Amino acid sequence: MRINKLVIENFKGYEGIKELDLPQIICLLGANGAGKTSIIDAINYGLTGNEPAGEIINTNASYAKVYLEIENTTSKEVLHFSREVKNTTPRKTTIKIEGKTNTAKVLTQMIENISGIPMDKLKITTSSEVISNLSPQEFSSLILSYIPEKLKRNDVISLVPALTPGMKDTIESFLPESDIDLDTIESFYKKVFEDRAMIRKKVDALKLIIDELPSSAPFDSNELLLKRDELKKAILLGEEYEKNINAYQKSLIQAQKYNEQVSALEREIESIKAVRPNGADKDLKNKINELNNLINNNSVIISTQMNSISEFKNTLDLLSKPVCPISPLIVCHEDKTSAKNEIEESIKALENSIQLIEKNTLKLRSDLENATKTLDEYNANAIEYQRKLDKMSILKQLKNNQPVILEKPAELTYKKEELKIKIEDIESKLKMIKDCEQRSTKEKQLKIYSEMYNDYNNLVKVFDKKGEVRNAIVSKYLGFFEDICNKRSGKYRPNNKFIFETNKGVVVKMSNDKGLYLPYQSLSNGEKAYFLFIIMDMINQLVGTKIMVLDELSVMDKEALMSLAKTINDFKNDYDNVILAAVDYSEIKDTILSTGIPNLYFGK
Ligand SMILES: Nc1ncnc2c1ncn2[C@@H]1O[C@H](COP(=O)(O)OP(=O)(O)OP(=O)(O)O)[C@@H](O)[C@H]1O
Ligand SMILES: [Mg+2]
Repeated sequence: MRINKLVIENFKGYEGIKELDLPQIICLLGANGAGKTSIIDAINYGLTGNEPAGEIINTNASYAKVYLEIENTTSKEVLHFSREVKNTTPRKTTIKIEGKTNTAKVLTQMIENISGIPMDKLKITTSSEVISNLSPQEFSSLILSYIPEKLKRNDVISLVPALTPGMKDTIESFLPESDIDLDTIESFYKKVFEDRAMIRKKVDALKLIIDELPSSAPFDSNELLLKRDELKKAILLGEEYEKNINAYQKSLIQAQKYNEQVSALEREIESIKAVRPNGADKDLKNKINELNNLINNNSVIISTQMNSISEFKNTLDLLSKPVCPISPLIVCHEDKTSAKNEIEESIKALENSIQLIEKNTLKLRSDLENATKTLDEYNANAIEYQRKLDKMSILKQLKNNQPVILEKPAELTYKKEELKIKIEDIESKLKMIKDCEQRSTKEKQLKIYSEMYNDYNNLVKVFDKKGEVRNAIVSKYLGFFEDICNKRSGKYRPNNKFIFETNKGVVVKMSNDKGLYLPYQSLSNGEKAYFLFIIMDMINQLVGTKIMVLDELSVMDKEALMSLAKTINDFKNDYDNVILAAVDYSEIKDTILSTGIPNLYFGK
């Protein structure tokens, strides 16, 4: 990727607009404060969104803007974009791609597409400041992704210190047999890290469970079981007893009820005085009929005789008159006295007869009344007697079904409640035994999980970015990285040799002119500038960013600058952009000019 053009507006030291067409290689020259670093910062900010230290909006302006044109050197595809920051609270950044407002995310994607470099790597490789501030760990993870070959699982296993069978098993379960690179290592590390948390949870949970369980139970479980069975049997017997005593009491009540019933019935039967009917009712009925007939006959006779009397009396009347008794029309003067007497006697005889019959009827009526009364009494007796018979039959039935009084069950010598309490006590002791057994099972489990946790914990440590495995892998390939650096350096400054050491990550050291290997922090400013150039160059070769930005070259002496400038110039075709900056001392100017690197002068 190549940066073709830069336009800045109110960026740091620049007030107003400043346009810059960037050739493939350029050295910015100018006095202190001329604005060289501002240009470099603007490029870095435009490309990555990384804000440099200090205020980026010019003091006299309310916004700062950086516009860039970048190009894919292979496809020639070009991208124009800008980032603008407004002096508001909070700050507002506006991003435009090809003149249109867009998001930072889209811009990142498009820059990644054009450059072919992921943004996180672009941020590192385009800034010497960022590179010089990388921790050994960050540096190690940056270069580790460029290890030239893939590893076998056994290679990795051989790098693990204090390997336990459990650790080996885990590695064999989750790491492929071959084709292992650092991404594979990283995903294995993540897996182990996550699993470790799960195992930890399990361990903690087991500890909690174990804490709740008794550590000892001084009881004989067999004895307790036997005792419990006995007690259970006793309870069953108790239940049986309750059933029997209830039945017994019920039988008593039934017997009592029965006796009461029987004696009540007997009393009742006793009280019924009726005697067995003798069959006299038939005769009585006949007699009554007969009497009724006689009475009726009497009344018929009386009525007939009364009629006769009445006729006689009429006849007497007629006889008293001088008319013929045959017809009143016939006058009769016959003496009728004898006839009258005769009639009167007949009447008398009739009246006597009636009197006698009436007397007889009275007698008959009295007999009828007596006979009816006797029949009624007979019937009443018969009904009562039947009642007696019925009662007697009920009594007989009752006596046939005389209830049995059950045998009284023998009294229990213990109480059910007491037994229950004893059983509860046994149950709790048995539970304690069981809990105790469970505790030892859980303790065994805890031991397994604790060992597993230790294994996972060790694996996490060993496979961590700072851990032995990655360090070992790095050390194994450090020579590869050292070679890249020393190849570049050797030709121009053979005294400045590079070595890569592992110490919680990778620490690069450079030998100074006295042959001492020192890390970046211990080097002089000039040595630092050279060191950074070599390291940036190496990273650029690995990552492929092809952009080299080196500020503050004026800290180098003439000789150092010369060799660096020569190196850069010789290898400039490895880069799409080389941007250097130095104070415009005449010596520096001359040195740069002598190498043929074009320069841009910034006057104050
Ligand atoms: N926000 C700002 N507003 C105005 N001026 C600023 C702002 N930030 C920095 N400056 C000034 O801009 C000028 C340019 O600074 P810059 O760091 O680019 O100079 P330089 O050329 O790199 O100098 P040196 O050689 O000392 O590194 C300086 O005078 C600095 O004080
Ligand atoms: Mg500067």
